[in-house]
Amino acid sequence: MKRHESLRELSQEHHLGLVEARALRRAAAAEPQAAAAAARRFLSFSERALTSHFRTEEEVLLPYWSRHVPADDPLLARTLVEHVRLRRAALEIGGQLDRGEDVRGELGRAGELLHDHIRFEERELFPAVEQALDEAELLAIAARRSGDGPRCAAGAPPPRSPA
Ligand SMILES: [Fe+2]
Repeated sequence: MKRHESLRELSQEHHLGLVEARALRRAAAAEPQAAAAAARRFLSFSERALTSHFRTEEEVLLPYWSRHVPADDPLLARTLVEHVRLRRAALEIGGQLDRGEDVRGELGRAGELLHDHIRFEERELFPAVEQALDEAELLAIAARRSGDGPRCAAGAPPPRSPA
């Protein structure tokens, strides 16, 4: 699927997320020790990659999207709810690891959730965002990724609201 260049980096991260989701689902059927190792890799992936990815979506992409849709827009709500569920999955897996419990059930659920969430964003959310946002808003998302903005709290303001 052709992505607007501003969303390309997020889409590339989705690809890595799908690889991780596959590893999680495989680990759910593995021996307990291998599953525990996969759980530790997932927690590290979650800290390194998911956190900054979610931050861009929640702090930039979704606020711009929310300029174009009602406050209770289902795509907006689903994205946020699934981000919370994925964070909760990491929390549960971390707790199970600490207690020396079997993580396989939770790994399988996390793998399904991550896979379905990424498919949803790629097939529904991102195409809708590309259609609704104007060029300045899309570029602001890419600028945020490169550390250039948007500077809502200080410095240059974000692009003017279309409303
Ligand atoms: Fe995403």
